[in-house]
Amino acid sequence: MDRIKIIGGAKLNGTIPISGAKNAALPLLITALLTPDTLTLKNVPNLADVNMLMRILRNHGLDLTIDGKRAGQHTQLGETVHLTARDIVDTTAPYEMVSRMRASFWVLGPLLARCGQARVSLPGGCAIGTRPVDLHLQGLKALGAEIDIEGGDVVASAPGGLTGARVVFPKISVGATINVLLAAALAKGETVMENAAQEPEIGDIANCLVKMGAKIEGIGSSTLHIQGRSQLEGAVHRVLPDRIETGTYAMAVAATGGEVVLEGARRSLLDAACDVLIEAGVEITETDNGLRVSRQDAELQPVTIETQPFPGFPTDLQAQFMGLMAKANGTSVIRETIFENRFMHVQELVRLGADIQLHGDTATVKGVGELHGAQVMATDLRASVSLVIAGLVADGETMINRVYHLDRGFERLEEKLSRCGANIERISD
Ligand code: EPZ
Repeated sequence: MDRIKIIGGAKLNGTIPISGAKNAALPLLITALLTPDTLTLKNVPNLADVNMLMRILRNHGLDLTIDGKRAGQHTQLGETVHLTARDIVDTTAPYEMVSRMRASFWVLGPLLARCGQARVSLPGGCAIGTRPVDLHLQGLKALGAEIDIEGGDVVASAPGGLTGARVVFPKISVGATINVLLAAALAKGETVMENAAQEPEIGDIANCLVKMGAKIEGIGSSTLHIQGRSQLEGAVHRVLPDRIETGTYAMAVAATGGEVVLEGARRSLLDAACDVLIEAGVEITETDNGLRVSRQDAELQPVTIETQPFPGFPTDLQAQFMGLMAKANGTSVIRETIFENRFMHVQELVRLGADIQLHGDTATVKGVGELHGAQVMATDLRASVSLVIAGLVADGETMINRVYHLDRGFERLEEKLSRCGANIERISD
């Protein structure tokens, strides 16, 4: 199993190219199930999660080529992927697949809308929380789906097709918004979704659906009006830049000091995180081709935050921010309001010398003068990268075990950081 070794202490200086967003690429790949024509996606990141979803989608009958190659052969950054689901050959997504790749649950809406039936395993819990899917099912039922749970699977049918309806979510959910949005694009008539998630990745999917022929109003807001179509067409769409990767590298520079241009990054995708970093003493300026992040002599100041749905501070940057605050000049308080168990990184950061007290959903982080390298374990994607940030500023050697978590969501992480001066390498045993 691969490990990552970091010798801390080096400042980061240089340029880091920002990849296409994992959390937009995944649902965009699934969007291809909605049309028999070819959907071409550009700037698709080469990540373990993306590759796994491609394999899952091929089971449903999706034909997939990457820059003229077959799946599994690609190595380049930001690939162009051509997806064609001329015929859906299988409307079942079994447990072995959905349990390995939560986002594959989002095939439920598109399969149901296009084929009138689907059987998709319940995804189960995961390291960051219980993660139920009741809101997904509630939304699809409103569109006319009949849903039963059999042997741990969601068995859904809509023999006469789905019909547009008003869906009011009692709680904001990215995944439920995506599932219903994809289904509504092929439903008869208008669907109005209220209290929808406003994450930029949802706007990216909606924009792609518009190119495919759906009519959608309110993109970027919490109320979406979707006019479904009986058939959608092919389209060409570029995946938007990854705001979580952007924020992660911005926090790495904030931690080490130095100056890095995050090429292709867009501030509007992460205003809340940028404002917090500026409050902490980091300079962030927009450039022609991205964002310049710099911390020279200013000390890192503590900032208190709480995670919120977009446009608030993202839960997917909470762990990284805790890694950063571990060495701040004072005490910060970090409250996690989205997932009940997203603090797996705390004990690992403590192993590096951080002073963190956990009470329920709130972590109190007392900045310490020094962190010290140690053996630590990656527990989930964002938790792992918080250990990278802490390792970059710890003295001595930090060894991060189980880095397959990192590979799920960060493209060429060691290469991007070492080009900016970090002493980081992957060790393959
Ligand atoms: C997406 O997960 C992202 N995943 C997560 O990123 C991200 O942390 C999360 O949105 C919040 O921004 C992908 O895009 C692949 P939710 P999702 O439905 O859709 C509760 C990463 O690291 N809820 O918005 O599963 C749920 O338990 C990943 O890249 C219900 O109660 O998140 C949670 O408390 C991790 N019932 C809250 O809503 C439901 O039916 C938000 O979850 C659905 C969700």
